[in-house]
Amino acid sequence: MTTSIMVMGCGNMGSAIAKGLVRAGRHKTEHLVLYDIVWDKARALGEALDIAWIRNIDQLENPPEYLFIAVKPADFPDTAEILGEWHKSVFLSVMAGVAIKDVASCLGGEKGIVRLMPNLCVEVGEGVIPVCFSPSLDIARQEEVLFLLSSLGWVFESVESEIDSLTALGGSGPAFISLFVEALMDGGVYCGLNWEKALKVTLQTMLGTAIYLKESGMHPGAFKNAVASPGGTTIAGLRKIEEGGLRAKIMQGVEAAYRRASKTNDGE
Ligand SMILES: NC(=O)c1ccc[n+]([C@@H]2O[C@H](COP(=O)([O-])OP(=O)(O)OC[C@H]3O[C@@H](n4cnc5c(N)ncnc54)[C@H](OP(=O)(O)O)[C@@H]3O)[C@@H](O)[C@H]2O)c1
Repeated sequence: MTTSIMVMGCGNMGSAIAKGLVRAGRHKTEHLVLYDIVWDKARALGEALDIAWIRNIDQLENPPEYLFIAVKPADFPDTAEILGEWHKSVFLSVMAGVAIKDVASCLGGEKGIVRLMPNLCVEVGEGVIPVCFSPSLDIARQEEVLFLLSSLGWVFESVESEIDSLTALGGSGPAFISLFVEALMDGGVYCGLNWEKALKVTLQTMLGTAIYLKESGMHPGAFKNAVASPGGTTIAGLRKIEEGGLRAKIMQGVEAAYRRASKTNDGE
């Protein structure tokens, strides 16, 4: 089997990456392969996406050029010994809170390692993907990696010291935003709309706001002021929201996620 890209771990993130790669259509599906310790998960995803899957890692004739490591950090050492023999592969680790040096030490020494922190939006090609490269990865390889990942969303180079903040904002962000979407939608339902219509209106409003802010480069506070006319309906709503301390709670939520990511980094 000629395999260039393998996804190890077919849970939430591994599935999103595999689906995103297939959806983008940039890579031949026969060059993708899936592996999960629970082989039934790899089989189900492989059949759904019409790509290969393996029951055992030693089933591979040749190591993949690129390996996405999408397992929980605690599960990684189980397979690391075998992977340590793959000297030509590039290891793309999405494990939250695991530094490049720790991936390298599990793999038995310096390797071509990329640490990335995607979010689940990679599934629809709209992920946020900060990446950090290990020193041994040459520029040509780095560019190949950036090209590979660009089919999954917005990719940018970062430094490891920033990754915990990016994990809290970009990695956990879809959960925070989904909570906000649900709350807005429920507000619409409370005012008499059915949930389907309330969700559609919420999503289009959120999409429009995101595109407006992205295209205009305007500070969100200025856009908020533009919507809230003096004595009007929006400012009445904003006052009530501010009374509940939503803004502080969201900031504290991001900070808690950041602290959790930093703790994992310290091996806790
Ligand atoms: N979910 C996110 O939004 C997100 C965002 C950024 C980064 N990440 C990172 O992505 C990684 C995976 O997270 P997840 O949410 O996708 O977890 P998950 O849903 O639990 O998926 C991990 C999968 O890998 C399997 N697995 C465990 N050990 C394995 C091994 N040695 N070889 C192959 N497969 C193995 C697991 O099987 P079992 O179920 O039997 O354990 C499970 O099916 C984590 O390191 C996390 O930090 C996730």
